[in-house]
Formats: sequence, structure tokens, C-alpha cells
Amino acid sequence: MKFQFKSDLIKKVQADIIILAVSDKNQILNNSSLDKPLVSKLNNIIKTGDLSNKVGDTLITHSVEQYSRVILLRVGDQKKLTAKIFFNSLEKITRNLKSKSFNTILISLDQFINKEITMYSASSYLVRAIINNNYCINSQKTSSKEKTNSYNVILHGDKANLSNVNLGIKHGEAIANGANLTKDLGNMQVKILDKKQIEKLKMGSFLSVTQGSREAPKFIILEHKKGPKNKKPIVLVGKGITFDAGGISLKPGSAMDEMKYDMCGAATALGVMKMAGLLKLPINLVSVIPACENLPDGAALKPGDIVKSMSGQTIEILNTDAEGRLVLCDALTYTERYTPDTVIDIATLTGACVIALGHHASAVFSNHEPLAKELLDAGEESLDLAWQMPLWDEYQPLLNSNFADMANIGGRAAGSITAACFLSRYAKKYNWAHLDIAGTAWNSGAQKAATGRPVNLLSQFLIKRASK
Ligand code: BES
Ligand code: MN
Ligand code: ZN
Repeated sequence: MKFQFKSDLIKKVQADIIILAVSDKNQILNNSSLDKPLVSKLNNIIKTGDLSNKVGDTLITHSVEQYSRVILLRVGDQKKLTAKIFFNSLEKITRNLKSKSFNTILISLDQFINKEITMYSASSYLVRAIINNNYCINSQKTSSKEKTNSYNVILHGDKANLSNVNLGIKHGEAIANGANLTKDLGNMQVKILDKKQIEKLKMGSFLSVTQGSREAPKFIILEHKKGPKNKKPIVLVGKGITFDAGGISLKPGSAMDEMKYDMCGAATALGVMKMAGLLKLPINLVSVIPACENLPDGAALKPGDIVKSMSGQTIEILNTDAEGRLVLCDALTYTERYTPDTVIDIATLTGACVIALGHHASAVFSNHEPLAKELLDAGEESLDLAWQMPLWDEYQPLLNSNFADMANIGGRAAGSITAACFLSRYAKKYNWAHLDIAGTAWNSGAQKAATGRPVNLLSQFLIKRASK
């Protein structure tokens, strides 16, 4: 949709459709700048009575002179036209335009201006009506999808009105796009589970991390269903630790503030959902986010505790700072209900990953080689690099526990690999990849800021999947 102000002679402005006002005298209003034959043909059409006398009513004619359609809007006495009636008529007209194919529509603003309706407000109303009525529900219908219609809109008026009209366009666009986002959010399927619901799901591992915090845990699920109905979804699982102090295994003080970034995996999943929504990507995509804090407290999880995950597997806690895997494992089990095609978790999981790869590459682990390859390729193509790490069975025994099915840490050696090994035990039912973004999600020091990675990599991956 392109909005543009023009002040050339109306007849010199090229357009398929023109919107014109009709007076209570059954005449085209202020017609001096229009071609005579056009005006007389339109006045004849008006005489037929097809356009009712009611102010605000509209009539669409077929080709008259150079226009493929003319839209007549009954204004009556221009001085008395109210903003409300004018706006309602624009809504009606633009709703109608959604199903028409054309390139350019022209409106002569002068015909609608009075004490109540300014150049600025008329422009803003028109832009809002068009964007509002061109909105397409992000629906789950797989057949008869609504189409959006894109065209040029020319707002015509005197040169002196340039800045008012442009401001109206600018404000109208911002308001309507804001409202459309609100509609999307309202229409998108977002489920947020609270503590009670999380307990009911028996996510004992996730819940153990949140014990020491006064902030309630949330389990967030977003669904973008725009692929074929029976196609299994791709599920993103984002680590959403909103602050990681380490819990009872408290972290050292230096740079602890940076653990506010421990939710960047979750933020990546949300960013990718937004990308998919903006592009209306024809895929089925789900994001699952376990969100909570990891803090020390009298009620906090303790080293030596044994917790039972949703999968039924038990975990001996040896270090409460290895909390990411504890929230992710239950989320991975939860995703089984989607019988997913692919699951990718994204997590600021281990300091060891920063030691291994620094800040240039995210680490990729996968139980399915073709998936790892797809992600590495997407990283290269989007210049959001990733590097594969091994997930060999030889590393698994490092997680052995004397008391439970596994320990939550594997010791100092190969820290990011044993973390991935831990997760792999909860991802056996589908093709899965794990992205450790501890080194890439944010910059430290003087340049301290989130980077937005690896939204680029994952977007590239999904855009490619959508084209298959
Ligand atoms: N969120 C951290 C990982 C992290 C640390 C990311 C530093 C970026 C920079 C994670 O929860 C964590 O604390 N991991 C521990 C695991 C260890 C206890 C096995 C780590 O890496 O020290
Ligand atoms: Mn931690
Ligand atoms: Zn953490």
C-alpha cells in the first residue's frame, strides 16, 4: 500500500478509480477541475437515482471516461458533512475495494473539507480505513484464505496542504498498523500456563528452578498455523530465565547483571514468531517458552535434591546454576503433544560454550545430521554463523548419578556437550537440534547489548523450509 499526495490538475493524475462527492443538488461537487464530459456523464448517472439521497451512501459505477470505476459518495451539503459519516463511508468503500483488482485510486480531498473535517484528519481517516479493511486474519483456515490487496492511493489537494496531508498519512499509517498488531495478538493463539497448570502437567524439573523466586513461573505457548492442516509443526523451545543468579550455587558477583540476558533464547523464539507473522509464512510453527527466575532463597532448590521431570526421569541436582537444562527438559517433553516434525531449542545454556566458540558462532547439536546441516547452511546464508559440536554417546556417562536417573551436570570437561547430552535424553521422539547461544546472544563490556541472534539464522532456515 502506497500513499501519496498530489496537487497536479486532477485530470492529469493517472488512476483507475476515483472517489468523488455528490451534493444535495444531485451534482458532482466542486467539479471545475474535472473534465466536462466526465462530469456530465456522472451527473446523468446520479439522475437515475441509483445513489440514494442519504448522506454517506455510496455508489460504484463501471468505466466512465478514463476511469475503470468511479465511486460516488453522497455528501449533501459539504458544510454539514460530519467526520463520523465521512469515516463510516470510507470504511464501507475500502471494505468493498478489498475484492477489486486495480492499481491506483484517487480521492479529491477538497470535496470533503469543512469546519469539522480538515485536510489532516481526512487524510488520516482514509489511510486508516484502507489499512484497517485490508487486514487479513492470521487464521488457521487452510482453504479459501483471504487475500490482501495492495494498491497506490493518491490523495489530491492544493499544494498548500502538502504538510497537513503528509502528516495525516503518517499518523494514519502508524495508528492503523498499531491497531492491526493488536488484532494479530488478539487473534494469535497464545496460551500462558500458570503455576497450577504447570504443576498439573507434572513439570517437576521446571518447577524446582522457580522455587526460590517470588516471581511466578509462566509456561508460554504461541502457535502460528499457516501451513497445510495435517503437516506436523516445527517447534521452537526458548530458554526464558529472566534472571539467573545461580540459585544456592550462587554465581560470582562480577558481571552477574548480564544474567538478565538469560532469556534471550525465549526472546529469539518470539522474534522468529513475529517474522513468521509478518511474512505470513505458510508453515506450522509453535514456540514454547518456560519462563522463570533462578534465585537463592530459603525455599530454593538445593544441591543434593532429587526432582522428577515431566518425562518421569529423575534428576539429581548437583549444581543449581545448571538450571537452563532443568526448565528446557520439561518443555521438550511438553512438545511431544504436537508430534513435531522438528524441534529446535535455543538457550544461553553454558559458559563453556563461550570458552569453546567465543562470540562468533552459536553451537549446534543435533540428533539428526540433515537438520544440523540445514541449520549450519542457514547460518552461512544469513551471516549469522553456527558451528556443529559432537553429541557422541561417549559423553553420556558423565551424567551418571548414584541416586537418580541422571545428574544435572557432567563436571568441568566438555561442559556444553554434557548439557546437550542431558537435553538429548528428553528429545528422543523427534528430530531435534539445540542451539547454545551463550556467546552470541549479547555483547559484554562497553558494547553491552543484545544482538538479536540467532533470529537471522532461524528465519533463513524457516523461509527455506516454507519454500519446500
Ligand atoms: N545462563 C548460564 C550460562 C551462561 C553463563 C551464559 C555465562 C552466558 C554466560 C547457565 O545457566 C549456567 O549458569 N550454566 C553453568 C553450568 C554449570 C553449572 C555446569 C555454567 O556455564 O557455568
Ligand atoms: Mn545458571
Ligand atoms: Zn542460565
